[in-house]
Amino acid sequence: MAEPKRPSKNRGFYVRMRLLHNKNGRPQERSLFYRYYKWVIWFSLSLYLFGSYFVTNNNPQNKPTSLSKTHVPNSESTLASRALFESTNATLRQKSTSNSAGFLKNLKIFVYDLPPNYNTNWLSNERCSKHLFASEVAIHRALLTSHVRTFDPYEADFFFVPVYVSCNFSTINGFPAIGHARSLLASAIQLISTEYPFWNRTGGSDHVFVASHDYGACFHAMEEAAIADGIPGFLKTSIILQTFGVNYKHPCQDVENVLIPPYISPESVQTTVENFPVKGRRDIFVFFRGKMEVHPKNVSGRFYSKRVRTVIWRKYSADRRFYLKRHRFAGYQSEIARSVFCLCPLGWAPWSPRLVESVALGCVPVIIADGIRLPFPSAVNWTEISLTVAERDVDKLGNILEHVAATNLSTIQHNLWDPKNRQALLFHNRVGKGDATWQVLHELAQKLDKSYNRGSGVSAELDSDT
Ligand SMILES: *[C@@H]1O[C@H](CO)[C@@H](O)[C@H](O)[C@H]1NC(C)=O
Ligand SMILES: *[C@@H]1O[C@H](CO)[C@@H](O)[C@H](O)[C@H]1NC(C)=O
Ligand SMILES: *[C@@H]1O[C@H](CO)[C@@H](O)[C@H](O)[C@H]1NC(C)=O
Ligand SMILES: *[C@@H]1O[C@H](CO)[C@@H](O)[C@H](O)[C@H]1NC(C)=O
Ligand SMILES: *[C@@H]1O[C@H](CO)[C@@H](O)[C@H](O)[C@H]1NC(C)=O
Ligand SMILES: *[C@@H]1O[C@H](CO)[C@@H](O)[C@H](O)[C@H]1NC(C)=O
Repeated sequence: MAEPKRPSKNRGFYVRMRLLHNKNGRPQERSLFYRYYKWVIWFSLSLYLFGSYFVTNNNPQNKPTSLSKTHVPNSESTLASRALFESTNATLRQKSTSNSAGFLKNLKIFVYDLPPNYNTNWLSNERCSKHLFASEVAIHRALLTSHVRTFDPYEADFFFVPVYVSCNFSTINGFPAIGHARSLLASAIQLISTEYPFWNRTGGSDHVFVASHDYGACFHAMEEAAIADGIPGFLKTSIILQTFGVNYKHPCQDVENVLIPPYISPESVQTTVENFPVKGRRDIFVFFRGKMEVHPKNVSGRFYSKRVRTVIWRKYSADRRFYLKRHRFAGYQSEIARSVFCLCPLGWAPWSPRLVESVALGCVPVIIADGIRLPFPSAVNWTEISLTVAERDVDKLGNILEHVAATNLSTIQHNLWDPKNRQALLFHNRVGKGDATWQVLHELAQKLDKSYNRGSGVSAELDSDT
């Protein structure tokens, strides 16, 4: 993709700032704030560039841009300049329609530059940006180069707070320890609410966080403990991008939220698809690989997967139509690509990375997780591309899947293999039209009533005069 330089965007910003200063006689403290703020951005961005170089140095696309040279993806560049123009006129801004900028309603997001101990320091562990909770890293990176990013917090609709909480892989089983999530987030909020005026202005209701772990903003992998801990008070009025979602009331989603897919590396999917084309031969009828306890332990009143995986194993492990494996295998994506049906049963939480991998690799997801809420329903028509089997019917899986294979399988596959589904569920280092970060932006654009500038009906320019 060609990446034309667009210095005009930033020049526009500074010109506009100067105009505003002249016109409004802006208070001295605010221009001081900007001088300081510019310097902080430079410094943090340099740190970020330096830090991320070691993580992403084999892929030039990953490099974030510097402040003075904003790169905008080719197809979006004209839209971006239009967005800039329109942002100087609140009346026009409301009217844009029918193109990408209009579809995202000229959304503007300010990304806080937090000290690296909140985010980029964690990237020293390479797994941090690749594992299933890594959307917290991917969304941050994509926003840094996105055309919705604004460097002027006064015109922002939303404020993104980039804290990576899932990157401490110090536990024995290799899963992240998220015990520090609350304190790290609390400290980040303490920092931004003292150094900037925006948090206090709205109590954080236009601030956006990622909580990609099992029970979202409850920050615990076990449901009881997650519910007992609850969503920390300081996050309750904010907007949470989370993988956890159910279609009934649950304390861990009792917050304004956008449901996001778990992170799967788009590069790994691409490599698999090159070797195993989506429309190629599928010689495995039903596939599942993962933890399947034969005698599940009652852990504080709960059984892993509510015993669903145990039933599957007991009933079908000897069935030749079922290819069920209980051990880790690095090449499992090729197995998905060779399979017709891929089981996506709940684990401790209802969601699973298998859902994204199945869709991306063209294997019909068989969702077994009662009440699960699925990401981006306006972009991915889940009922057309997947099957849902009730937890209580899991012992009838064989018959159910045989029936589908004999009736509407080819319809489902045809729907599933539409590349827009794969695109919608994968996060890239740069926002691509229709990709997962783009879908997040689209959903945020439906929440503009939370924007201080727009929700109140007062433009940033008018407001700063008061
Ligand atoms: C904004 O746009 C409206 C509609 O085109 C126009 O009437 C108004 O004068 C513009 N305001 C400014 C400040 O440019
Ligand atoms: C990482 O997790 C371990 C185990 O919970 C904890 O002891 C350690 O303090 C954590 N590290 C950081 C930097 O939070
Ligand atoms: C925001 O409110 C907190 C708590 O009342 C206060 O400590 C802090 O100084 C305020 N921040 C700003 C920028 O005024
Ligand atoms: C799990 O064990 C607890 C006691 O530790 C017991 O009260 C509970 O009924 C058990 N749950 C199930 C589903 O068997
Ligand atoms: C999804 O597809 C079904 C069946 O074609 C259709 O009835 C439904 O309206 C679609 N849902 C959305 C959100 O497009
Ligand atoms: C396919 O058939 C099954 C029942 O056998 C039904 O549950 C499912 O909704 C159908 N899917 C489509 C896309 O027609």
